[in-house]
Amino acid sequence: MKKFTDPAILQKWCANQKKKGNKIALVPTMGYLHEGHLSLIREAKKRADIVVVSVFVNPVQFGPNEDYDKYPRDEKADWKKCREAGASAVFFPTKENMYLDRHSVYINEEDLSLGLCGARRPGHFRGVCTVVAKLFNLSHCDIAIFGQKDYQQAQVIKRMVRDLNFDLEIVVMPIVREKSGLAMSSRNTYLDEDMRKKALVLSEAVRTPKAGDKTAVISKKCIAKIEKAGLKIDYFECVDGATLVRSAKIKKGDAILVAAFAGKTRLIDNSIVK
Ligand code: PAF
Repeated sequence: MKKFTDPAILQKWCANQKKKGNKIALVPTMGYLHEGHLSLIREAKKRADIVVVSVFVNPVQFGPNEDYDKYPRDEKADWKKCREAGASAVFFPTKENMYLDRHSVYINEEDLSLGLCGARRPGHFRGVCTVVAKLFNLSHCDIAIFGQKDYQQAQVIKRMVRDLNFDLEIVVMPIVREKSGLAMSSRNTYLDEDMRKKALVLSEAVRTPKAGDKTAVISKKCIAKIEKAGLKIDYFECVDGATLVRSAKIKKGDAILVAAFAGKTRLIDNSIVK
């Protein structure tokens, strides 16, 4: 397995792979890899000849009061996990070589990013789109694989790919959950046992709304349940799965999205209405 830190060298290597006729899949991550990430790498391996995993805690997608500095990092463990999952190359750039002095070009998606996490985390999707576009360009990927846990992110990236004519396919893989039902997240490491138990209410809540329910009524019920469990609600929304516009009445294909604070840890979860 190859290791790259320099964007230009990765780009050259990937260009060479393409010249040889190899299909490239990219799995962008912020590291501290868990089973959810590994499921993306395994899927990438099924779909492409070369799997590039990027491990980069992207400063541009964090707000000033967010957890950029304390975001968990473990390069050694990530390297081992990538190798075991079958990656061909891992890209560990530094923030200095991803964002050169006076970096001044960013990508703004101006529809799907406006609500939900975008409204609560100003600048977050600008940072995500910018880094993901850079990773697309560096990796020459034919496919990029994301997790459904970041549902809004996946929709925003699909829109960016469509609107900016990136010649690649976006694949979104299902949420991987712990046995308890808790959605896997690198941020779960911040939770103590008590908070882990309390956080289970999120996966229960997103599975509660059913097609035909009135959003206002069911949302109120779910929010009350989440707060009763001891979490602080950030949002609970039932939206059209493609446009992310709130549904008055829930229908098949809608996305039920939640963000809530378990102590200081902001967790997200979602499910699609059957
Ligand atoms: O989902 C993530 O881990 C990040 O937002 C991503 C896509 C790797 C961009 O930094």
